[in-house]
Amino acid sequence: MNRLFTALTLLMVTLFAHAGPEQDRMKLVTRFLSAYPDLKPADYVRGSLSFDPDSLAQYNSIMEFPPFSAELDKSEKLWKTPLKSGRTYADCLPNGGRMIAGNYPMFDNAKARVVTLEGLINECRLANGEEAWAFGDPDSMGLLTAHLRSLSNGMKMNIKVEGEGALKAFEDGKKTFYSRVGQLNASCANCHVDNAGNRLRSEILSPAIGQAVHWPVFRGGDQLVTLQKRYESCHRDVRHVPDKAGSTRYDNLEYFHSYLSNGLPLQSSVFRK
Ligand code: HEC
Repeated sequence: MNRLFTALTLLMVTLFAHAGPEQDRMKLVTRFLSAYPDLKPADYVRGSLSFDPDSLAQYNSIMEFPPFSAELDKSEKLWKTPLKSGRTYADCLPNGGRMIAGNYPMFDNAKARVVTLEGLINECRLANGEEAWAFGDPDSMGLLTAHLRSLSNGMKMNIKVEGEGALKAFEDGKKTFYSRVGQLNASCANCHVDNAGNRLRSEILSPAIGQAVHWPVFRGGDQLVTLQKRYESCHRDVRHVPDKAGSTRYDNLEYFHSYLSNGLPLQSSVFRK
């Protein structure tokens, strides 16, 4: 009996020791490394630009004098504006808001849910006499995160999945990532894993690894888009009715999706077409 038990335990350990988030991430890393031998994972942070030297050169010159610098000034002003209580965002965020963005989304065991950086901002607002902001609103939440995230430039993505609740949220995000939806019957993975580097109409598809480190983006010049707004538009592109930014499903998706970028440096804000 004992021997059978030991044999079963050993079998379980061998089967499950490597299962889990890190195995999911490594599977994609290995896949991308063999599909794009000329690229290093650090190159993935530039998304589709890494596959197109001309666009990358254009991007680099745009980033020297970003067309969205006026928006960044507004963002910094918003960050510094005191809340109704007189306290500032820096007063109520961990470490004054510096070098923290790579830890989010974070699974909060006490709340039994994923907390995004945007969620944290709303907690801070509510605790200081203000109303919560809509997660996807470019003029409030989006604008504030542009400055807040820039305070974490260079920090490496460092998402942790520890404990049963965290794993469940991660698995839920993974399910959304791999589920085919909409009239086009496509999943995030169909485009950003299976077809990363390939063209879809006029665009080159970016790899899923590296997609979560550089938000918000300014599209076409100064149009601010947050990460979950991008989820909405990708879902809409396949004719799937999207969630609203800040839904549990998108928070869990962001948790899984951000984990894939673990170890890559954050940079905000950047230009996108
Ligand atoms: C039918 C293909 C398709 C599907 C399915 C799709 N996307 Fe996209 N996605 C695109 C295209 C095209 C772009 C713009 C080019 C690029 O950067 O990849 C894009 C851009 C993005 C970006 C921005 C990348 C950057 O660096 O700016 C993110 C993030 C993203 N998608 C995430 C997702 C997620 C998460 C899902 C699933 C909910 C998803 N996409 C589903 C086609 C798709």
